[in-house]
Amino acid sequence: MSLKDSIDQTRLPQHIAIIMDGNGRWAKSQGKNRLFGHSNGVSAVREVSEGCAELGVKYLTLYAFSTENWNRPILEVTGLMDLLLKTTRSEIKTLQKNNIRLRAIGDMDALPASTARELRQAIADTAGNSRMDLILALNYSGKAEIVRAVKQMAAAAKAGTLTPEDITEQMVTDHLYTAGIPDPELMIRTSGEQRISNFLLWQLAYAEFYFTEKFWPEFDREELYRAILTYQNRERRFGKTTEQVKEEGK
Ligand code: IPE
Ligand code: IPE
Ligand code: MG
Repeated sequence: MSLKDSIDQTRLPQHIAIIMDGNGRWAKSQGKNRLFGHSNGVSAVREVSEGCAELGVKYLTLYAFSTENWNRPILEVTGLMDLLLKTTRSEIKTLQKNNIRLRAIGDMDALPASTARELRQAIADTAGNSRMDLILALNYSGKAEIVRAVKQMAAAAKAGTLTPEDITEQMVTDHLYTAGIPDPELMIRTSGEQRISNFLLWQLAYAEFYFTEKFWPEFDREELYRAILTYQNRERRFGKTTEQVKEEGK
């Protein structure tokens, strides 16, 4: 029996978020440069996107570039932006074929114009696809996302259309880039690092975290199934006791 057959289809996470980490270390282990690692990370993106869509996962969010990543050597940054542009262009047909909708969260305006243009085009072209949303976190920062939401609400308060009493958790949620998207139930990080690096700070409030030593270019469908199986073996208590959770599950 393959790992896939052990997955309980009725308890799939609707939304999986992934910090794709370890491209640089994987490349080094192969005696290659960091960009070689990023290029090889693209096949893992393809593999995991298709694996999720086949299972019936509805949202997959991939952390592709953080606001902090601008601090990397300029050649790596331009290489990543170029890879993003080329990958978007080459994958669009497959996204259409697989009925996958491409979306992005983060500040797209700060990306190189050609990369932003290609992405916006792909986002518009796939807007009608309904099997799964593939959400790329690009020039993304969880703190910046919350600040942006706070600014929007402060502007509404100043304009007199909002009072402090109106502000609820739901309202904050609705002002995030991810408005309308359910919170991830499962967050995966590859490469052995165990931190969230400014990713989806609000949305991961109750996510299950799964860390693996595998570098991102090594992550494949089987690894995805392993992560989902681990998730399915966790007890999600949401503050309650085990006894309460067991009673409710009967
Ligand atoms: C993740 O791999 C990709 C991006 C952050 C763009 P890294 O490039 O961080 O690889 P390591 O962590 O240096 O090995
Ligand atoms: C997080 O990875 C960002 C992405 C995967 C895009 P990093 O490799 O940049 O994270 P830190 O800085 O080591 O925490
Ligand atoms: Mg890293």
